[in-house]
Amino acid sequence: MLFKNKVALITGGTSGIGEMTAIAFAREGSKVVVAGRRQEEGSAVVEKIRAMNEDALFVQADVSQEKDVQYLVSSAVKHYGRLDYAFNNAGIESQPAALADQSLERFDNIMAINVRGVFLSLKYEIPEILKSGGGAIVNTSSVAGLVGFAGVSPYIASKHAVIGLTRVAALDYAKQGIRVNAVAPGCIVTPMMERFTDGNTELNAQITAMHPMGRQGTPQEVAEAVIWLCSDKSSFVTGQWITMDGGFTAT
Ligand SMILES: NC(=O)c1ccc[n+]([C@@H]2O[C@H](COP(=O)([O-])OP(=O)(O)OC[C@H]3O[C@@H](n4cnc5c(N)ncnc54)[C@H](O)[C@@H]3O)[C@@H](O)[C@H]2O)c1
Repeated sequence: MLFKNKVALITGGTSGIGEMTAIAFAREGSKVVVAGRRQEEGSAVVEKIRAMNEDALFVQADVSQEKDVQYLVSSAVKHYGRLDYAFNNAGIESQPAALADQSLERFDNIMAINVRGVFLSLKYEIPEILKSGGGAIVNTSSVAGLVGFAGVSPYIASKHAVIGLTRVAALDYAKQGIRVNAVAPGCIVTPMMERFTDGNTELNAQITAMHPMGRQGTPQEVAEAVIWLCSDKSSFVTGQWITMDGGFTAT
């Protein structure tokens, strides 16, 4: 077990990549704080972890709201006494439309969750991780944070911003024992992808074909990279991202 007696906080832990990563942290012996907006789904993830004889807590929080993030981090520390790792993963997708047809409301909403949410999470997690003597943070970017895709400008902007925040947070705390990295997944089979393709099998096949491996990824494949980035096995890695995209960005 890599994280015995440690505490990990995961935003967007109620489904998809966040849920699988919460379970992977528990497998490694960590106590897990599962954060999200949906009480029922969050409690279900906590139950899965307790069924593994590991410890978890659900805290309801909207990462775009400063008070919620403060409450989330303070609840984690109040309950478990420390914070060692964070996976800032909560995010929402764009609706496809050319830039001039994207609404300002949608742009602001995506930036509030995907960018302000990561900023606020970092802002309140870092002081607590410093008090624990250091640790590691992983933010969820995307291949959409590395290259452009037509039709999803707010999402592309938000995921590029996550790479920028990751680099600066890594530099700000490089000497203080906190490593900050990102994951940049290609298309991963989760509720988000299901919403995006909305039953359109042709669109789903097109998306799959963009990945040279000829398939989409699994949440477990992202979770394993997060575990590695938080573990001491990556002790000299900071300010970086790991792309898991079946070769998508190699083309
Ligand atoms: N699925 C993909 O293909 C893919 C690819 C690259 C990156 N990502 C990113 O991975 C992350 C996880 O997405 P997923 O694919 O697991 O989808 P998902 O929809 O299953 O998970 C997103 C999670 O974020 C939560 N969330 C959304 N808004 C929130 C808010 N304001 N406050 C707190 N929680 C909130 C949702 O409730 C959910 O638990 C997202 O940041 C997404 O952009 C996904």
